[in-house]
Amino acid sequence: MATNITWHSSHLARADREGLLNQRGVTLWFTGLSGAGKSTLCCALENELFANKKSTYILDGDNIRHGLCSDLGFGPGDRQENIRRIGEVCNLFTDAGLIVLAAFVSPYKADRDNVRQLLDKNQKDGDESNSNTSRKNFIEVYVKADVETCEQRDPKGLYKRAKAGEIKNFTGISAPFEAPENPELVLNTSEKSVEECTSELMNYLREGGYLS
Ligand code: PPS
Repeated sequence: MATNITWHSSHLARADREGLLNQRGVTLWFTGLSGAGKSTLCCALENELFANKKSTYILDGDNIRHGLCSDLGFGPGDRQENIRRIGEVCNLFTDAGLIVLAAFVSPYKADRDNVRQLLDKNQKDGDESNSNTSRKNFIEVYVKADVETCEQRDPKGLYKRAKAGEIKNFTGISAPFEAPENPELVLNTSEKSVEECTSELMNYLREGGYLS
């Protein structure tokens, strides 16, 4: 971090912004193999939340790599930096009171845990003005589908190219995926439909008090 910099606080608290939006800021972090269904579920959930007049924002791996992270590749160090930057963005958007839907392969447990820690810290800092501490800032959603299923789907033809050796460090083929150990939600997309997964997500948010 640079030296000679000072934190400047605004006059509004997170709770003020959340009050205006009539919702609670939270990040839902979708992790899973390419082709597991992360983006599909985020879009379906976004539609459902929009219909319920909730403000959301999707951060999606492919899209973010066109801009904010266009300088990064897929080696472990670049993936770590990718997730670090996204984590910071999630932290800001969550503080703004948005429901953030983050869809990233994020194959390394340590990188995901760092984002969780960052958002947990934000929650602790805000707890003095928030009596309901059971709600979380970071909800890890494991979008589960085995590599064979993803390979069969292969919506972008990436598995075929990875198997032919044209794409290096491809998650599930030539790079690891560390499955979450204690995710808040597991959605097995080879067993459940998009509608079933979306309704599970909505129930989780409703029952957790995130929507009011
Ligand atoms: S990561 O691991 O979280 O940094 O990856 P992410 O930013 O989510 O980007 C994943 C999307 O990039 C495409 N792609 C690859 N994925 C995995 N491994 C390799 N080597 C790779 N190269 C390109 C792919 O389209 C991923 O998108 P999704 O939506 O997951 O299929």
